[in-house]
Amino acid sequence: MATLNSLRIPVLFLFTLLLGTDAYFMHTQNECRFSSNDLHDLEYIQRYVFNKLEAIRYNSTLNKYIGYTALGVKNAERLNTDGSAEQRHANLDSYCRPNAKLVLTNILDKKNIPEPTIKIRSASHSSHKHTSMLVCSAYDFYPRGIKLTWLRDGKEVTHDVTSTEELADGNWFYQIHSHLEYTPKSGETISCRVEHASLPEGKEVKWDPNMSEVKRNKVIIGASGLVLGLIITIAGVVYYKKKSTGRILVPSS
Ligand SMILES: *[C@@H]1O[C@H](CO)[C@@H](O)[C@H](O)[C@H]1NC(C)=O
Repeated sequence: MATLNSLRIPVLFLFTLLLGTDAYFMHTQNECRFSSNDLHDLEYIQRYVFNKLEAIRYNSTLNKYIGYTALGVKNAERLNTDGSAEQRHANLDSYCRPNAKLVLTNILDKKNIPEPTIKIRSASHSSHKHTSMLVCSAYDFYPRGIKLTWLRDGKEVTHDVTSTEELADGNWFYQIHSHLEYTPKSGETISCRVEHASLPEGKEVKWDPNMSEVKRNKVIIGASGLVLGLIITIAGVVYYKKKSTGRILVPSS
């Protein structure tokens, strides 16, 4: 899956004019946008923004300036007819393409794509008595574009599967949860397969009904308690034996 989220390489030119106590803020923003590896959709955008208002935008796909304010519209008309648009268009190949290629070859290799953490858990489910529910979750992946598949004994399950959307965490990462409703059969294996740009071979995680993480922790804590108890008991018995033998060796008058 080689989908990349739309990328921008913004270069900001900032001007601040201080007049009295009010500040006026003018910035020009250059963006190279693409979401393909072959750059067929490469787009060069230049925005002129005054305070928070975008006044003019050059769009290489249209090869035109578009005005968004009265002054912007007036200037766009002029820039579209005096040869400025043509000149701007040259940036697509001279500025955006080489930079985008650098990003694709040096930055966006597999090491730079965060792999999801994958977890399977059972969820209590009350609507039917004889069915169980499993949830396969993938956390902290980027970019969007993930596929979760349930497998029962290696065969893809298409019935009774529901999934959430790819949910944005608000920090550029995403999470997703897929639910499988099923009637348990003894001896079968259930697994969740995850496909994402960060996992060239995909990744399969098996559900272990006997040893969920919580159960395993309980077993470890129980076993540790048992061992500790045994050590204390043995130490106590040894101590008691030594004490009682000592008394016999030194008889009181
Ligand atoms: C540029 O124009 C194309 C064609 O109309 C449009 O699809 C694209 O969204 C525009 N890009 C921006 C950033 O406005």
